Amino acid sequence: MPSFTKTILITGGAGFIGSHVVRLFVTKYPDYRIVNLDALTYAGNLQNLTDIETAPNYVFEKVNLLDATELARVFTQYQPDSVIHLAAESHVDRSILSPLDFVYTNVVGTVNLLNVAKTQWSQKTLRQAQGDNPFDNKLFYHVSTDEVYGALGETGLFTEETPYDPHSPYSASKASSDHFVRAYGDTYGLPVVITNCSNNYGPYHFPEKLIPLFINNIITKKPLPVYGDGQYTRDWLFVKDHAIAIDLVFHKGKKGSTYNIGGFNEWKNIDLVKELCRQMDEKLENPVGTSEALITYVKDRPGHDRRYAIDAGKINKELGWEPSVTFEEGLGQTIDWFLSNEEWLKGVTSGAYQHYYEEQYAER
Ligand SMILES: NC(=O)c1ccc[n+]([C@@H]2O[C@H](COP(=O)([O-])OP(=O)(O)OC[C@H]3O[C@@H](n4cnc5c(N)ncnc54)[C@H](O)[C@@H]3O)[C@@H](O)[C@H]2O)c1
Repeated sequence: MPSFTKTILITGGAGFIGSHVVRLFVTKYPDYRIVNLDALTYAGNLQNLTDIETAPNYVFEKVNLLDATELARVFTQYQPDSVIHLAAESHVDRSILSPLDFVYTNVVGTVNLLNVAKTQWSQKTLRQAQGDNPFDNKLFYHVSTDEVYGALGETGLFTEETPYDPHSPYSASKASSDHFVRAYGDTYGLPVVITNCSNNYGPYHFPEKLIPLFINNIITKKPLPVYGDGQYTRDWLFVKDHAIAIDLVFHKGKKGSTYNIGGFNEWKNIDLVKELCRQMDEKLENPVGTSEALITYVKDRPGHDRRYAIDAGKINKELGWEPSVTFEEGLGQTIDWFLSNEEWLKGVTSGAYQHYYEEQYAER
């Protein structure tokens, strides 16, 4: 049995961003043991991780954040030094239809995890071994969103000091979980760090979100539904750059701090969709305008925030992080990945991915 210098519990590692974080840590740090804890909801897909699933420093645990007993069992079994918490209900449209699911997983689930970490890390035996501070060398890292800050007008940027003003049930639940994480830091001295990130895109993105949905719709020649007038503005970040930022904050971020992470690039939805159409036509060798003809404007989403834009100056200045690719480059890489991974896409759209755990893991 190999010995490890660290054990990190990563929650939500079968999801979109979590799978990139798991892959980065498993491959970059062979001396760390990575425990991926995920309930495998509709958004969890173990086929995101087939390339690293047999690595000696990787373990998967199918556990729901709402099951405090199972969370405690995982903590006792693996004794993680740190938690990187990404598991969440993450889709705004679903939160409008079913807000309570977001309260359960994002709020109650996060508090369950905080409780287990606090209780297990402050056990008497640990305290005796480590002196006065049971939380030495421990870290609870919460991955959050810029949507907690609400909406901006035509100008301005979200900074780490921007007051919280969430508008959707999703952002309200993430804001609440951020508050609980900080409260556990302030009340119990739990070492915490939070990052608030803008919209991610890239390989393994679940095709209900704008970019992968539209790539899939262009491939299958279906309409591209654009909300309202298409003038909504978002900052976009390539998911691999987010994973690199998480690695940096995990190792070098100041405990108790918050860092905003963003791509330094704002796009109006309609401009983004047109750029996507342009690149898709080029790559599929379609006549110019083929994909744009699929655009259809649909009724706006209620409570739709007009503009998000993030000031990622703090993480840049303190930790030297900046995105490695422009949006056009990242989008190109994303399209290439989807075009060469049709099997993955088919597995998701047909629902076959949901049987992978039973087929591959259940008997291990
Ligand atoms: N996607 C973005 O653009 C974005 C931007 C900023 C922040 N975030 C945050 O990053 C995190 C990951 O986002 P994502 O886009 O990868 O999400 P995702 O929906 O792709 O993945 C979420 C994962 O959490 C798991 N999960 C859900 N409920 C669970 C529960 N009760 N117990 C255990 N596991 C559960 C799912 O199975 C899935 O694997 C979320 O916390 C999200 O709020 C996302």
